[in-house]
This record gives sequence, C-alpha cells and structure tokens, in this order.
Amino acid sequence: MKTFDVIVIGGGPGGYIAAIRAAQLGFNTACIDEWKNDKGAPALGGTCTNVGCIPSKALLQSSEHYEHAGRHFAEHGIEVKGLGLNLGQLIARKDKVVKQNNDGIAFLFKKNKVAFFHGRGSFAGQAEGLYQIKAGDETIAGKHVIVATGSNARALPGAPFDEEFILSNDGALRIKAVPKKLGLIGSGVIGLEMGSVWRRLGAEVTVLEALPTFLGAVDEQIAKEARKAFDKQGLKIELGVKVGEVTTGKNGVAVAWTDAKGEARTLEVDRLIVSIGRVPNTNGLNHEAVGLQLDERGAIVVDDQCRTNLPNVWAVGDVVRGPMLAHKAEEEGVAVAERIAGQHGHVNFNTIPWVIYTSPEIAWVGQTEQQLKAAGVAYKAGTFPFLANGRARALGDTTGMVKFLADAATDEILGVHIVGPMASELISEAVVAMEFRASSEDIARICHAHPSLSEATKEAALAVDKRTLNF
Ligand code: FAD
Ligand code: NAI
Repeated sequence: MKTFDVIVIGGGPGGYIAAIRAAQLGFNTACIDEWKNDKGAPALGGTCTNVGCIPSKALLQSSEHYEHAGRHFAEHGIEVKGLGLNLGQLIARKDKVVKQNNDGIAFLFKKNKVAFFHGRGSFAGQAEGLYQIKAGDETIAGKHVIVATGSNARALPGAPFDEEFILSNDGALRIKAVPKKLGLIGSGVIGLEMGSVWRRLGAEVTVLEALPTFLGAVDEQIAKEARKAFDKQGLKIELGVKVGEVTTGKNGVAVAWTDAKGEARTLEVDRLIVSIGRVPNTNGLNHEAVGLQLDERGAIVVDDQCRTNLPNVWAVGDVVRGPMLAHKAEEEGVAVAERIAGQHGHVNFNTIPWVIYTSPEIAWVGQTEQQLKAAGVAYKAGTFPFLANGRARALGDTTGMVKFLADAATDEILGVHIVGPMASELISEAVVAMEFRASSEDIARICHAHPSLSEATKEAALAVDKRTLNF
C-alpha cells in the first residue's frame, strides 16, 4: 500500500493549496479529487475553478464589455455599429479560462511532486498510527489527513435542481440562450453576480429575497448605495418575500410567492437560478468509519486551528465553520500544512476581505457600522465619494464611496467598506492596514499615487478626522 505523510481529500482552493504547501515543507503528499470535466477528465480546482469564482468572473468581465460597448462607449466618442452577442463564444471563452486554471494546478502538482489520485476519497479505517483512505480504486495510507471536500448548492425544498430550468450555480454559468425572463431566489452574492451577468446580456431579471433588508451583512450605508445603483440598472429586487411552490412547465418555471405586504403573486420566468446559500459537503466521505464528528449543519467540527475530533485529521474551507470563501479556504490550508510541520500557521479571521463583483463592486473588511453600534463600541466614521476623485471621473465611473470606521479613542481601523470601481483591488490596502493594526491617521499620512482610485481611500481616512482635501 502506498503510504504518505499527508493525504488531502479534495482539490479545491483549500485542498490543492494545502497539498502544495505540505509538499513544499518536505512532506510526501497525496491529493485526491473526484471532479470531472465534460470529457470525464480530472479538473482540479474544485467549485472555485470549475463552477464558482473563476467562471463567474469570466462571465462578469465579458458581459461588462458587452454592456460598455452598448451603453457607455458612445459617451467616449466611440461609435459601435452592428453590436452583436455570440453567447457560444462567450461561454467557450469562460470554459477556456477554467481549463487554463485546471491545467495550471495539475502543473503545480507535478512541480511540487504532489501525487494526484482522481476519484473519490473516503475513510476506510485506521491502524498503527495511519489512516487508510480509499482513493478511487486504490487504497492508500497516511499519517495526517486534511479534509477539504467543500460545499454544494442548497436547493429549495420540493424544487430540486434539474440544471435546465431550475439552476444551481453550475447551470447558471452555462445557459445556452439568453433567457427573456430570468428569476433568482436569494439576493446574496451569487444572486447579485449572476443576476448582473444575465441582465447585462439582455435578460429581464427579478430577484426574490426572503430577508426584509438588502445585503444584511454589508454596512448599511454601502448596501443602500449599491441598491440605488442596481435599481438604476433595472435589476428588480423584491425583499421580505416568502417563496412557495415552484412548478416547471415545458418552457419555463412558475414561482408562487408572497410579497412583503402579504399579497400572493406568481413569477413566470424562462429560467430560475436558486442561490440561497451552500451546504458543507461530506457526501461519500465515510466519516462514520473513523468517527469523524459533524455538527447539525453537516459541517466537520474543528477548533480554531482546524483540528477535528480525531488526532492528525484536519479540515479546512467550506466544509468547516466560517465564511465560504476561496481565500479563507487557502489560508486555512497553508496554516494546517505549517502546523503539521510544527510551525505557527496563521489565519486572522478579523481581516478576511469580502468582495461582490457586481458593478459597482462591493468590498469590505472588518466591522460594519451596525455591528459596532450593536457592540457598543465608540467609533468615528469617514467617507469619501468617488464623485470627487479625478481618476474615477476620467474612468466615467463615479458611483459609490470609501468608508472608514476607526476606534474613537485609539483611531485603530475597525472596518473599511467600499462600493465603487475596482473595490476588489482597493480593499487590499485596508486588509494590510488592519493586519498591521494601523490607525486611520497612518493611511491619511501615506503618499498615494495621483490620479488613482486609491486616493479615495486616503481621503476617507482623512475624513475620519473631518479634514478631506478634495471634498
Ligand atoms: P471546493 O472548492 O468545493 O472543493 C472541494 C473539492 O473536493 C471539489 O473538487 C470536490 O469535487 C472534491 N471532493 C468532495 N468530496 C470528495 C471526496 N470524497 N473525494 C474526492 N474529492 C472530493 N469565493 C471567493 O472567495 N471569491 C469568489 O469570487 C467566489 N465566487 C464564487 C462564485 C460561485 C458561483 C460559487 C458557487 C462560489 C464562489 N466562491 C467564491 C466560493 C468558493 O468557490 C468556495 O469558498 C471555495 O471553492 C471553497 O474551497 P474548498 O477547497 O473548501 O472547496
Ligand atoms: P448567500 O448566503 O450569499 O445568499 C443567500 C441569500 O438567499 C440570502 O440573502 C438569504 O437570505 C436568501 N435566502 C435563503 N433562503 C431563501 C428562500 N427560501 N427564499 C428567498 N431567499 C432566501 O448565498 P449564495 O449567494 O448562494 O452564495 C453562497 C456562498 O458562496 C456565499 O455565501 C459566498 O460565501 C460564496 N460566494 C462568494 C462569492 C464572492 O466572494 N464574490 C461569489 C459567489 C458566492
């Protein structure tokens, strides 16, 4: 039987990064992943690479180009005649980007000498300080096991995904013709990103959201600003709804729902995307064989170091507690490999950034104003609008603002919230600042390139002490 120091089950961002880091640290490492592409070949990278982060961003980019060509180029004096959409090419490009990433990870495995097994990984037993793991048709043994089996889309009760009419994130990324009418259940991250893609490509989009507040986890002021922009774009978002029966017909889907006033309504659409959250995935892991503990949601129970209830068995990423984000999974994967090596792996849950890749983008790190109020923390706030930023004006994209929240007594940055152009990139400065426990004054005194969007970050930091220079 082949024996390894470390066996990783799952080749998504949590698993493949853990495997590479373990191999870098000198461990004889194996990674087992069962994902197949449509030709039945291995497709490393998990949800993120195959049906998540990467393909969604490829479609967001293409659809944004299309919208700019149709709506915004004229303002720049660029005349486009005969603008058309080749959806087949747009999807094919997305698939090519995915394949480049799959191949890139396979190359990294070879480079780092990670042994790859294609197939399902499951616990088979335990003897003499080693775990026996089924890896497809083979059985291998390992001293340490890192479980990184990710998550699956949650379906609406009574409306399973058929990926033709009722779509999960998988089907939502490969619709063959732009639907005239598209419905989405859930105005979370996937709802807004996928809704934006298909709206830009020409669909009339309606989003039904159960909660009465829009983007409840986002700073209220930022969420309000984003909502204004989405309304202007024509994304119809209904809050406080109760979704009832979903019926699939020959040509589409009918959703019975009750609006916030209690009125019964029906939404008839060509396609329905259900994006109501994801559930941890331990399907087929045979965790019972070794007594690996799960919680009531089906997530693997871990401590703050990703240790499970079993010695030398670790779990990272979407299959454990915490935000379901690729970069969180990666950080946990690195930290676990380093802990196995006796080092001090480090994951700071207070500085994990969030980004929603809509237009405008929404990004944040740290506490929201409503969280600080609820916790009774005394804080100062400073905001700066992109409207007053020269680079944003030159770009023709002045929606939104940067917002700083700092401790009233010490001025330490407690949260930074951005809605606007390139928020996904701008947030990194705030993450670095918070990781080093900087004050808003620190950012305010750093020289930022002109003209750049990052000047809005500096100005928002200045605004904390009411001394903006350009507003
Ligand atoms: P996964 O990526 O789910 O990987 C798990 C892997 O394990 C899969 O390949 C699976 O096939 C395999 N596996 C499972 N069980 C077994 C088994 N028993 N044996 C062998 N293999 C097994 N996050 C971001 O940070 N940024 C984004 O922009 C972003 N966009 C997203 C867009 C969409 C549409 C979706 C759905 C998610 C998005 N996410 C994003 C979330 C991100 O994809 C996940 O947080 C991330 O993939 C979690 O990584 P993971 O390694 O824990 O699990
Ligand atoms: P989500 O948790 O972001 O949003 C789900 C939404 O559905 C919530 O607003 C919830 O109130 C609503 N909802 C739940 N049940 C409902 C019901 N029965 N009827 C109507 N509304 C209902 O989950 P989503 O969008 O499915 O995404 C899953 C996860 O994937 C995200 O939480 C995030 O971790 C990750 N992701 C990250 C992205 C990024 O980082 N840019 C992009 C896409 C996904």
